Amino acid sequence: MKLSEIDTPAVLIDVDRAEANLERFQAYADSHKLAVRPHIKTHKLPRFAKRQVELGAVGITCQKIGEAEVMADAGLKDIFLPYNIIGKSKLDRLVALNKRVQLAVTADSEATVNGLAAAFRKQPKSLIVLVECDTGAGRCGVQSPQEAVALAKLIEASEGLKFAGFMTYPKNGGISENEAFLSAAKQLALDAGLDPRIISNGGSPDMWRAHEVTTATEHRPGTYIYMDRFQVAKGVGSFDDCALTVLATIVSRPTGNRAIIDAGSKSLTSDTLGMEGFGRIVEYPDAVITSLSEEHGTIDLSACGNKPQIGERVRIIPNHACVVSNLFDKVNLISGDEVVEIADVAARGRVD
Ligand SMILES: Cc1ncc(COP(=O)(O)O)c(C=O)c1O
Repeated sequence: MKLSEIDTPAVLIDVDRAEANLERFQAYADSHKLAVRPHIKTHKLPRFAKRQVELGAVGITCQKIGEAEVMADAGLKDIFLPYNIIGKSKLDRLVALNKRVQLAVTADSEATVNGLAAAFRKQPKSLIVLVECDTGAGRCGVQSPQEAVALAKLIEASEGLKFAGFMTYPKNGGISENEAFLSAAKQLALDAGLDPRIISNGGSPDMWRAHEVTTATEHRPGTYIYMDRFQVAKGVGSFDDCALTVLATIVSRPTGNRAIIDAGSKSLTSDTLGMEGFGRIVEYPDAVITSLSEEHGTIDLSACGNKPQIGERVRIIPNHACVVSNLFDKVNLISGDEVVEIADVAARGRVD
């Protein structure tokens, strides 16, 4: 099947670019003796998770139990879930998952640890738990190295749980704060006789500086496989590295400077990540996608010399590739003009 036969809106994944992105970061990490544990939330496809492991990843990261269940079903064996797992239904699923794979989770409160401990106390296989640290991003995480070690001690003292180290999802550009927090937590843990063998750092925006966080033993990039407009803005790669595009058709040209595409917020998402516009049109880089309704994207062509015609097809690099993956049941894997496979996005919608 050729690219021209795909109906729109549709997601295209350039497999050659994705492969090059994976190989480039794995080589960088290998050269710095840093383990790679990719976050699969970006692609949600078992085939890419397996490829990441083949290339040298020590395991994968999933955000939700539902994603991890899909990956375990597909044969992935080593899964990190950096999330506070709360509530009986999820804890029951966690117990079942821990029987099938090498599993680790995070906790940032006594309440989470106590819930995990109650679920795992009578289990023959302990659950590995890392302490999540807020090193500057302002999301989950204990607020100081002292709190991190206090929680580490509680984990270690809890029957059914095994403390294994610290995890953070850092602030973009917050390398020195991150290193200061993690190295202090590690030292305090060692002083307390604990073994913080995994120090897990993450994110694509600072991934080429991952080696500067010298305390980290592993890095969890997610978006690096596809890249997107935000990562390009952060200098992580170029538009030529972007593997995921949304194929759309120009369905209306109501005025000289306005075009409408058949991709709206249900295809591109309304995520701007603080940038102007809702994506970059590859064929018309000076065009601005100014607004989205659910099934329409409105484009301002005033800066374009050349303007598209009704029926023309365009490819859009979204602001944020990961959220686009979650919107489509299937993606088209392409190489050049050929569609090499239409893949089910197996872990899409697994937000539970
Ligand atoms: C806990 C965690 N680790 C890793 C990642 C991967 O980050 P990125 O997509 O910037 O590579 C994310 C992204 O949201 C995350 O939440």
